Amino acid sequence: MLYLDTANLEHIKKASETNIIQGITTNPTILLKENIQREAMIQEILKITQGTIFVQTAGETVQEILADAETILSVFQDSRIALKIPAHFEGVKAIKKIKMEKEEVVILATAIYSTEQNVLAALAGADYVAPYINRMQNNRIDAYKVIRETRKIYDDQQFLTKILAASFKNTGQIMETLCAGSHTVTVPFDLFKNMADKELSLGAIRQFNEDAFVLGQNGEEYV
Ligand code: E4P
Repeated sequence: MLYLDTANLEHIKKASETNIIQGITTNPTILLKENIQREAMIQEILKITQGTIFVQTAGETVQEILADAETILSVFQDSRIALKIPAHFEGVKAIKKIKMEKEEVVILATAIYSTEQNVLAALAGADYVAPYINRMQNNRIDAYKVIRETRKIYDDQQFLTKILAASFKNTGQIMETLCAGSHTVTVPFDLFKNMADKELSLGAIRQFNEDAFVLGQNGEEYV
């Protein structure tokens, strides 16, 4: 139930070593940070991770989105490649069209700031929706209410669509989002690592290891 929100190869390698990451989510901004062209970058990511890799379509109109979706699917020809499509009006049309023609293509509806968009994306057949938690909060939108409402509607209507919440700036947001009912989340590497590496734990572990050393464990007889 955890995806990594990055295209940084070092971060993907380190996170993949835990074997608890289900896949990678990217967008044009994330790819631009790595300064490599989209196709080349995704080919590299495919080599170092086993999970699903979400690649976002560019374009405003349904025609532009469908054309870029076709490019993404034909360039990679890999069942691990999934599409990310923005959930505005044109995007919802594109999601439905792709699902009618190629049901097997996995689609994550993205750039979501409301419950309404989650409902339309689910009706169009999106497999996942990505509500943007931190960005909603920056705009004084009650992000956790969006998650609660969406989960209730999905459960009541028996939609198969899953909430894959995105846009996090601290681990508290991640936990609140999961408690509000998000099925899964995608998180940047620093927050992924910070979910385990708490300062208090690191201090406690340091003390245990110093005491183990004094006891003569770990190859060093000290007393
Ligand atoms: C992932 O799907 C989103 O594109 C991403 O999480 C947005 O995060 P940001 O708000 O940090 O840019």
